[in-house]
Amino acid sequence: MKAGFLEKLIERLGRIGPEEVQNYFLRLAQEKGFLETVFNAIQEGIIVTDSEGRITYLNDAACNLFGIDASDSIGKRLDERVRGLDWESLTQSGGPVSRDMEIFYPANRFINFYIVPLTIEHRESVAGIANSRQPESTTPATGATEQAGHAMILRDITESRRTEQQAIESERLNALTLLAAGVAHEIGNPLNSLNIHLQLMERQARKFDGAARAELQESIDVARSEVIRLDSIVTQFLRAIRPTRPQLRPENINTIVREAVRFFGSEIQDRDIVVEQELRSDLPLIQLDRDQMKQAFYNVIKNSVEAMKRRGILRIRTDMDDSHVFINFVDTGGGMSAENLSRVFEPYFTTKPSGTGLGLLIVRRIVREHGGELCIESSEGKGLALTIRLPYIDRRVRMLEAGDSQKE
Ligand SMILES: Nc1ncnc2c1ncn2[C@@H]1O[C@H](COP(=O)(O)OP(=O)(O)O)[C@@H](O)[C@H]1O
Ligand SMILES: [Mg+2]
Repeated sequence: MKAGFLEKLIERLGRIGPEEVQNYFLRLAQEKGFLETVFNAIQEGIIVTDSEGRITYLNDAACNLFGIDASDSIGKRLDERVRGLDWESLTQSGGPVSRDMEIFYPANRFINFYIVPLTIEHRESVAGIANSRQPESTTPATGATEQAGHAMILRDITESRRTEQQAIESERLNALTLLAAGVAHEIGNPLNSLNIHLQLMERQARKFDGAARAELQESIDVARSEVIRLDSIVTQFLRAIRPTRPQLRPENINTIVREAVRFFGSEIQDRDIVVEQELRSDLPLIQLDRDQMKQAFYNVIKNSVEAMKRRGILRIRTDMDDSHVFINFVDTGGGMSAENLSRVFEPYFTTKPSGTGLGLLIVRRIVREHGGELCIESSEGKGLALTIRLPYIDRRVRMLEAGDSQKE
């Protein structure tokens, strides 16, 4: 709006003739339309309330963020239309407030908002016109201000939050990796020494004969097999957790799935579990680290087997679209609650007495290092569906089509 237009209008308010009023109205309507177009074009959400917290204006971006409709929101209390927004406490300070919030409807997004109190400055009334809108007030002195409500400005910070979150997680994982690798490494030395001493004992045992020797040999064998078991746990653990760069080679996903399933051969039989494999035969080869990907599938299958305990069906399906190959694991192990689902990638989060709480974290790390993504859906009481998507086209850039918004 041109500066000065309103000022001039207000100055002349007492002297405007009836024929001019129409012109000014038209002009004001145009200005309003222009401002509305501008406000609706910006990405930030804007909501204006009166001093009672009732919505007097909101732009398109605000409607989209909160999933509300402008026409049935005007005049309603903002905290009624946006449940969970504690308007009273946000505005009680009387000053500007900036906060972050998470919204769940119509989409899960993070918003940063900024609330500023709006004040209007009263002018000297002109020929009683300004006063006619507030009959109860006495003519205010020039420059007096009145609390007129609040403006709320909303910014979508979902993307930057996600990146930040990922940085924190990988930071956490790195610290954890170092610690675990250190511990595992320390265990390796005493294991070696145990092995050597067992050999010495075996040599000594040969000096005995008969029942005493057999007994001693049996104990030594038990001890040795435990040492071997510990050693393989440590080795596997180190392999799983050490952030090695994936050694990429063109691989067939189906082969890796079959190999990972084969690990569980006897356990699946013992537990009466059926593994159905529906593997699409014409998948392209993908550049990946075979051992790491096998480890990822292994962790996923292990969770399903553990969740199903006895009897159940694990369905593994591979398929593709025009950019990704996906591997979909669906079990009948009862799934998990929404609360647990939100915590599965926290290091050490486990619901099992002897779980490590590292399995899925490692799966996600491996999948991300391959440029892929992981998606878990759980229907509590039924089962869990986990999908790994891996890109098979090595794309360095993605052309954005017109209208492909940055928010995507
Ligand atoms: N297929 C599944 N069905 C039900 N719950 C699961 C499944 N996979 C994972 N979970 C839950 O997620 C938690 C974390 O899994 P994970 O990171 O592999 O660690 P761990 O298996 O050592 O507990 C498990 O303790 C379990 O509660
Ligand atoms: Mg696990």
